[in-house]
Amino acid sequence: MKIVIIHGQNHKGSTYMAARALADKVGGQIQEFFLPRDFGHPCTGCTTCFRTELSHCPHYEQLEPLAEAMLESDLIILDSPVYVYHASGQMMSFLDHFGTWWVVHRPRPEMSRKQAVAISTAAGGGMKSTARDMADSLEMWGIRKVYRLGFGVQATKPSEIPAGIRRKIDRKTSSLARRIQQNHGKTGCNPRARLWFSLMRFAHKHFAPMEPDYGYWEEQGWHQGNRPWRSQIEHMHETPEK
Ligand SMILES: Cc1cc2nc3c(=O)[nH]c(=O)nc-3n(C[C@H](O)[C@H](O)[C@H](O)COP(=O)(O)O)c2cc1C
Repeated sequence: MKIVIIHGQNHKGSTYMAARALADKVGGQIQEFFLPRDFGHPCTGCTTCFRTELSHCPHYEQLEPLAEAMLESDLIILDSPVYVYHASGQMMSFLDHFGTWWVVHRPRPEMSRKQAVAISTAAGGGMKSTARDMADSLEMWGIRKVYRLGFGVQATKPSEIPAGIRRKIDRKTSSLARRIQQNHGKTGCNPRARLWFSLMRFAHKHFAPMEPDYGYWEEQGWHQGNRPWRSQIEHMHETPEK
């Protein structure tokens, strides 16, 4: 399995430890990126990606290796410590660059064969909202299965984590790794993205076309019977929807 981990922090603390434990248990080829070391630009709000292509983003040279690694992977892991109840600023800045991948714009069909995990650790609170910050993007990119994992570690570094919480991290990462292995190779779309796909398809058919999104959907056959989560072979045998 090809695994890419985007760490929302530069250091190897509790969050790194939990994410890396999960990836090691899933097993396979693991590629890691650290933010902001490997990508540290805030979005400038120029909207070039929405009006043209993500590849025209002023930060694309630094973004490309991370974007390509995610597109080629089977499993994407995003992790972040909780910083004032949310994902780190650098993680949010990174995710801001992928607005065009959202299902309401120009989703990538590759996402339908991927799984993803949003992992957060906190001293005590904010794990849910932080995991949600990352899961929002993963789900809206159309990834088939998105898992969330949060740990209240009662610590600011791994050596301080109480033994009981260490055991919990071990147990939860082991059971999630097994689920990920069992679900490997399946294709589909999470229910949230599927709903938004249907709403956008309706909008495309009933309101003035917004380019370049409309043309992209047309090329993909999504205004007809094809869907991002179906293979081309299935599509060839199918009668287009009315
Ligand atoms: C700037 C900052 C903000 C933080 N905000 C919270 C918070 O809102 N809630 C919380 O429980 N812990 C908070 N913490 C503690 C960390 O989330 C926690 O120690 C985490 O496990 C650190 O992960 P790391 O070892 O990977 O850096 C904060 C820490 C920092 C540095």
